[in-house]
Amino acid sequence: MADNLFPKDFLFGSATASYQVEGAAYEDGRTECIWDEFSRIPGKVWCGENGNVAADQYHRVEEDVALMAKIGLQAYRFSVSWSRVLPNGGREVNEKGIAYYRFLCQTLHRYGIKACLTIYHWDLPKELEAKGGWANRETSYAFQFYAETLYRELGDLVDMWITMNEPFCFCYLGYGNGVHAPGRADWNDFASAVHHANLAHGLAVESYRKTGLKAPIGIVWNPILPRPATGRDEDKIAAERASVFNNEIYMGPVFGKGYPTLATSEFGLKFPIEKGDEEIISAPIDFYGINYYNERPVERDSSLLGFKDAGTWEEETAMKWPIVEKGLLRVLRWMDSYSGHLPVYITENGSAEEDCVKEGRIHDKGRIDYIRKHLGVMKEAIAEGIPLKGYFYWSFIDNYEWTFGYTRRFGLVWCDYMTLRRIPKDSAWYMRDVIRSREE
Ligand code: BGC
Repeated sequence: MADNLFPKDFLFGSATASYQVEGAAYEDGRTECIWDEFSRIPGKVWCGENGNVAADQYHRVEEDVALMAKIGLQAYRFSVSWSRVLPNGGREVNEKGIAYYRFLCQTLHRYGIKACLTIYHWDLPKELEAKGGWANRETSYAFQFYAETLYRELGDLVDMWITMNEPFCFCYLGYGNGVHAPGRADWNDFASAVHHANLAHGLAVESYRKTGLKAPIGIVWNPILPRPATGRDEDKIAAERASVFNNEIYMGPVFGKGYPTLATSEFGLKFPIEKGDEEIISAPIDFYGINYYNERPVERDSSLLGFKDAGTWEEETAMKWPIVEKGLLRVLRWMDSYSGHLPVYITENGSAEEDCVKEGRIHDKGRIDYIRKHLGVMKEAIAEGIPLKGYFYWSFIDNYEWTFGYTRRFGLVWCDYMTLRRIPKDSAWYMRDVIRSREE
């Protein structure tokens, strides 16, 4: 490999998630998920916005995939809406839901683009939440049934499987501090959610191995390794605690290391582990994905967790997230050793910018700079021998940014929410050039 080129087999793609782009929320048999409910609670989401229409990808598959091909994207990471495929979170398959995802995969293949499917990206059927959601062990088994349904119905068309996206977010933000759906804030429910998410992942991997399907299967985390804010020993302790809380309670069990003792002894997390669970959760995976956006230094404080974000001086994106590309390198190095040198993909990385359309163009220089910086450290990682196999920009198109509604734009492609017209931004053409030349 020439020093300045990405390897020939390095995959460049982009990512989205069902609730954020599909729309068609009440069509063809889809039933409600926790985000449909949550967005109706006053004050939870910017102006009560929801995913009813979103970027309307449900009706625009051909147009969107053709655009991906024009940009040169080689892979599309999308997620499946559980309640579109299994209405009410039940056991009866909705043929129309399956037909939609088959059409999406077939269209991707027709354009020579790989189909990378995430089974769960936060949109739990509301009926399962009514029974306790991720705090209920039954949800892990319901997830296994859902995963098995997808293996059977879509297994011939999927090139890469991801069991779930960022358990940290749907467990902690969903059940720990209640900022995201379903909006619960209970420490015991949070600990249960973590364990049941981990268990659900393991059960889904076990079932997958029985299918004989050959596409790789893995999981996506959003690890961060915050720097200690100062040279004080107590801030170093804060940083260690942050890693346990953000990373190790999810990936420890998956890599057969179990739950870190600090999680129980210091954070008071009571994981409802049953006999045999840890073996299921540590079923071998083929790769893992890292979603990386930013990193903030931490300092020690007297809260239960014992750490908090410290101020930062770096330049920020429209999310007010500092741009810290070196943090990605630290995460890649640490994860490489923690995982035992398993293949890794950057499954999300991207920037929300104050985009605006001027004479039919979007000059998003900030986003291009952001991508360039992160591609730069990825090359360093590859040169060091880290088996980094691909990069998925978040997001392919502007979409529903959870509690921020439609006020934050991450896309390579602009979505005009009034007309649903698409316009590739300058960053899309920058990506095209990177993909063609394999240079950043
Ligand atoms: C999530 C996406 C989200 C993005 C930007 C990630 O944590 O997987 O769904 O849109 O961050 O906030």
